[in-house]
Amino acid sequence: MMQFPITGLRSVSIGTPDLARSEHFYTQIWGLAVAARQGDVVYMRASGSDHHVLALHPSESPEILSVTFRVDAGENLEALAAKAVVHGATLLAPPADNPEPDGGMVMVIREPQGGVFRFVQGDWQHADAREERDRPLRLAHVNLNSADVAAETAFYQQALGFVLTDRSKIMAFLRCNSDHHAVVLAEAKANGLNHIAFLLPDWESVMRASGRLVDAGYPIAWGVGRHGPGDNVFAYFVDPVGFVVEFTAEVLQVDDSYRVRGPEEWIWPPGRTDHWGIAPPKADHVKAAQTAIVYRPAALPPGAS
Ligand SMILES: [Fe+2]
Repeated sequence: MMQFPITGLRSVSIGTPDLARSEHFYTQIWGLAVAARQGDVVYMRASGSDHHVLALHPSESPEILSVTFRVDAGENLEALAAKAVVHGATLLAPPADNPEPDGGMVMVIREPQGGVFRFVQGDWQHADAREERDRPLRLAHVNLNSADVAAETAFYQQALGFVLTDRSKIMAFLRCNSDHHAVVLAEAKANGLNHIAFLLPDWESVMRASGRLVDAGYPIAWGVGRHGPGDNVFAYFVDPVGFVVEFTAEVLQVDDSYRVRGPEEWIWPPGRTDHWGIAPPKADHVKAAQTAIVYRPAALPPGAS
């Protein structure tokens, strides 16, 4: 299988206007645990080895602050930064010791459409990783809105070494390891966050964890169902401050022999948006939440984590 310079999606940092409520939701209901606190930032881990998968920062309104990717140990971070700049990114922080608790080295860019990406190498990992039924193991993917999916897809391919796995009418699925996708780009009017997906051990866990959310007063926003591209089981929720988050499992594993299918092949029968067809149509308030969080304008100081 081909070697990817970036080996995985590690974590996402978000800003919340109600830090206490968000921390309660992600630790007591969603299934994460506090891994570290530094200043007013709360770093939360899943049950896998990643130091954290979600970082909560206080913020005036819900916002996406950065996406963190893990870089292969053999890759040169300086070279990766230079390549990103050649393809239109802005270097926000050259490779240096990481001041945050995930450790290792970090390099930060603003990609051409406004997202802040952190690249970590040699980041700290937990020794007690384990699968726990009904609890997230790690991130599965991040779905980012893009006003120009074709241009952004090219950036991922040319600057970051991702491979296009599938392309539906409005979405591009990109991989950097055997998971069918680590990043999904969704066509939208404005660039920003669509949703964050957390991997659970199996589809039974998706069902049981969804029940836990329902019990806690968070109804399923979309699902449960089984996606087309990636074949993963899904259940979407809207968190207490408006972020759309997904429980997912059974993501298709692919290798170099995978045949990319395009929009003409990813077509549902009328009325269907997933394989099972048991979920009601996605409600308007969920669609609105999936486009509500746009990148902070580049003129303002970046929240580089
Ligand atoms: Fe998703």
